[in-house]
Amino acid sequence: MKETDNLNISNSLKLFEEACALIPGGVLGARRPTDFITGEYPIFLESGKGCRLYDVDGNEFIDFLCGYGPIILGYREKEVDEAVYKQIKEKGFCFSLTQKYQNILAKKIAELVPCAEMSIFLKTGSDATTASIRIARAYTNRTKVMRCGYHGWHDWCVEMKGGIPSKFYEDVFEFEYNNLKQLEDLLAAHGDETAAIIMTPFGHPNHQKMQIPNPGFLEGVRNLSDRYGAVLIYDEIRTGFRLSLGGAQDLYGVYPDISVLGKAIANGYAISVVTGKKDVMMAAAEKLFISSTFFPNSEAFIAALKTIEILERDNVLAEIWKKGEWFIEKIQETIENHDVGAELTGIAPMFYITFKKDESGSYKGKRKDFYTQMIRKGFFFTPYHHAYICYRHTQEDLNLTLTAIDESLEFVKKKYQN
Ligand SMILES: Cc1ncc(COP(=O)(O)O)c(C=O)c1O
Repeated sequence: MKETDNLNISNSLKLFEEACALIPGGVLGARRPTDFITGEYPIFLESGKGCRLYDVDGNEFIDFLCGYGPIILGYREKEVDEAVYKQIKEKGFCFSLTQKYQNILAKKIAELVPCAEMSIFLKTGSDATTASIRIARAYTNRTKVMRCGYHGWHDWCVEMKGGIPSKFYEDVFEFEYNNLKQLEDLLAAHGDETAAIIMTPFGHPNHQKMQIPNPGFLEGVRNLSDRYGAVLIYDEIRTGFRLSLGGAQDLYGVYPDISVLGKAIANGYAISVVTGKKDVMMAAAEKLFISSTFFPNSEAFIAALKTIEILERDNVLAEIWKKGEWFIEKIQETIENHDVGAELTGIAPMFYITFKKDESGSYKGKRKDFYTQMIRKGFFFTPYHHAYICYRHTQEDLNLTLTAIDESLEFVKKKYQN
């Protein structure tokens, strides 16, 4: 199998060089070239439409990162964008007081998300996870937190601890997804002081294989929360409005006290939500100050209402599950045909191709080669993050992608044959 030629990314590299003199590191966090494959992936994009991205060198990609999760319909989804333009032109969106859309969206969320009775609206997922912890601490008058998954960049949970005094995270303990025993042990030691257990209800730990809940795991966590009087928070930033309209909690039938939503709710517009049981949520009104200049801006509420309308009207999530089931079944067959140590984990709307760890560390080379071939062929997957399917991926797009996966695995197989 011939190696695919590398992409021309010269404009991206020029912009990056300029950026490095203007912005520390050139680009921030998960957008850094080292989070992809340095020298292979574009660094700057020009535009997107449907499921396609165009970079500043004119390369076109079928995209499976979906803006790191917000794109549930597609890029530049006409109906959503037009609803926002209309709001901007006819009413405006940034005022000193609140517009009525927060009430409408709060009602809609209460209708769809099982644990939702009251909601507050913020901008980012990190805002919302952090607010949920503050609410749980205020409600319980306790400090400690058990956490499982990625919850954003704020002091209490970010992986890179630079610049953060240890007192800001020393009351936060991590447990692994599907490891109930570990959580039991942590609570045996700290249960009386534990304000919250925050977890992703579906397992998508950073850079690792994805995990569906083992039988009894979510129920076990729910029981432990009740036994110790800790608030159970589901971080549904990735799973909300993607696995189902009611999130992973609705899919798995185990309900938290509070849920945090963001990303897919507004197809790319910045809005996040803390929603939950009235008695717990009321701590936000009685004991806390949660406020920020842009939180009430209405353009994102309009985008969320229109996105949810389309998700319901066009049965979008069922469609994503249907094509995703077909797609991951075919990917699995392709992986089995090649036998190069590739592994597929996840579920139809979000899945991940990784390589089995081996002592020689060859999995790293295989991963690099596989994802390099994919990006060169015009398929935007990343080595260190799972993929998403959006509504605008067509059967034809998925067929093309399968061929590329097949060829890229074949390339890896030939290269690592002996
Ligand atoms: C599960 C989860 N929680 C929280 C966050 C933080 O959200 P944001 O990046 O919008 O601050 C993310 C972001 O990827 C996430 O995936």
